[in-house]
Amino acid sequence: MDLDHDFWDARYAQERTGWDLGGPSTPLKTYIDQLTNKDLRILIPGGGRSYEAEYAHRSGFTNVFVIDLTERPFKDLLSRYPDFPVKNLIVGDLFEHEGTYDRILEQTFFCALDPAMRDRYVEHMHHLLAPQGKLVGVLFDEPMDDGPPFGGSKEEYVARFGLHFKHVSFTPCYNSITPRMGRELWMTAQRVDHIPIDCNLYDRYEEAATLKRTVHLTMQDGQRFTGRIMDLFVRDHIEWLRMDTEHEIRLDHIMEMEVDVN
Ligand SMILES: C[S@@+](CC[C@H](N)C(=O)[O-])C[C@H]1O[C@@H](n2cnc3c(N)ncnc32)[C@H](O)[C@@H]1O
Repeated sequence: MDLDHDFWDARYAQERTGWDLGGPSTPLKTYIDQLTNKDLRILIPGGGRSYEAEYAHRSGFTNVFVIDLTERPFKDLLSRYPDFPVKNLIVGDLFEHEGTYDRILEQTFFCALDPAMRDRYVEHMHHLLAPQGKLVGVLFDEPMDDGPPFGGSKEEYVARFGLHFKHVSFTPCYNSITPRMGRELWMTAQRVDHIPIDCNLYDRYEEAATLKRTVHLTMQDGQRFTGRIMDLFVRDHIEWLRMDTEHEIRLDHIMEMEVDVN
């Protein structure tokens, strides 16, 4: 089965849209309600009839974008809410889409994709987020092989999303709609490119460099480096050190430093 434009377009044409809630989903509505910065650039991928986009725009968010493979559900949105900016409705494939967003809202899009696309989904969502941007929303928490929708589990999601996102959490969703209660996880995956280095830690690197101490660095990925720190510098807003072995090392990737007292 090809889950392509024709598949989804036919589902809308034939009104076979069992996923459609007829209004914004409670978890996403609650999330939108607590956002205070109305200038956030928000993307809703596979947004369908776009109730969440309508709700956000009516609530004062002006930079709300929806992308969907088929135009058909957008017609429904525009007939319900003609004030929604047409230029923010993108007809196309999410995986071909380029842009930068502060928030991406997930609602029955991930589960609608061929499961073979899941790693690409995670990679592309990470790519579309601004630094510090977040992917949030609901994912199914039950095995469903015969989709769409396709299911999954917290273990699978933690492993998959953790490959690209530093901060991920999947918690049982407390405010799902009744038929989905107990079957959904609330996802937060934040893009964190760089964690600023604590001043005290930075002082330790500086001291070791000044006193020409031999240091043993253990990295987050398990690699180890031994040598003297020759230089501490900033490149692209990220702090680095250079060893006498010529290795250049990001400070926020160091897990532990031992210093020889020589
Ligand atoms: C199950 S529906 C969910 C629609 C909407 N999120 C909702 O909850 O009502 C999945 C939607 O994703 C869209 N879609 C599927 N693959 C897509 C892709 N690669 N890029 C953009 N949209 C896609 C489909 O056209 C469909 O509207």
